[in-house]
Amino acid sequence: MSDGIYPGHKHSFDDSSGVDTMVGTGPESSGQREPGRSPLTPTDYETIASRYDLARGGAPESLDAWRIALSSFLKHASLPLLDVGCGTGYWAVALADWFALEVVAVEPSRAMRQKACEQRRHPAISYLGGRAENLPMRDGSCESAWLSTVVHHVSDLGKSAAELRRVLVPGGRVLIRNAFSGRTDGIPWLRYFDHVRHLAEARWPTVDHVLQAFEPAGFGLEHLEPVEETTDLSIASYARRVGVRADSTLAAISDEDFESGMRKLEEAVGAEPDPKPVISTLDLLVLKATL
Ligand SMILES: C[S@@+](CC[C@H](N)C(=O)[O-])C[C@H]1O[C@@H](n2cnc3c(N)ncnc32)[C@H](O)[C@@H]1O
Repeated sequence: MSDGIYPGHKHSFDDSSGVDTMVGTGPESSGQREPGRSPLTPTDYETIASRYDLARGGAPESLDAWRIALSSFLKHASLPLLDVGCGTGYWAVALADWFALEVVAVEPSRAMRQKACEQRRHPAISYLGGRAENLPMRDGSCESAWLSTVVHHVSDLGKSAAELRRVLVPGGRVLIRNAFSGRTDGIPWLRYFDHVRHLAEARWPTVDHVLQAFEPAGFGLEHLEPVEETTDLSIASYARRVGVRADSTLAAISDEDFESGMRKLEEAVGAEPDPKPVISTLDLLVLKATL
């Protein structure tokens, strides 16, 4: 049932769970969204997959801050790290290399997964179909889990928290890299798209919302830290990435709102005398299994 391309984690996979690991018609197409969150339209990663890496990836320096931030919480372990919503595998490769970890990378979109398999083959990484609410892993089979810009796509966060608790070992960690509502000042593109800030804020959960979903599943807050990453080396190349419109909020707004924001961003490009790095801040939220 799995379409993992490397067999290295067979001991961790649960091929008898009845999980549809080949989900690929839109990652948010099932499940119930929790009250109080307005997601705009679900994001179609089947369509975004072909341009996703043009918009993400950033400068190599951008990852360094995360390697340092994560080094307090991740180290080589005998059980794999689970990368939930791994997309095109960008982080799976970094985490496998930095911390000498085996990584099981789970992704519901067939097109995103295909990109990962084609472009980020790695002897320590297995790519699998699956989603956070129904993980194709055996109980207690993973040391920790990584969710990079995924929690706002998950339709049932409480169910996902219970699933993560099930597949992690006692004391295992869930490491979340995300924008959180009320903590968005460090996201550069929002300065030019202030007219849709309320939509982005409604789309991203608050830290409290995530905690409330994870605590009943047996997780407690261990750490919360804003991490500054060098997203690009100039505003001009940053504008090209934003223009790809692979960000889920930008993909969901009207063309008029998108073009209005891009005009403001292009004005900033014209006004920059010398290239300066563009810094983004996302949060690292670390939850630890207490039960
Ligand atoms: C913004 S992308 C992030 C990809 C990757 N983690 C990264 O940081 O580059 C969000 C990813 O979450 C996936 N996703 C959406 N709903 C999901 C769910 N319920 N469970 C797991 N992944 C999901 C999407 O298919 C998409 O690949």
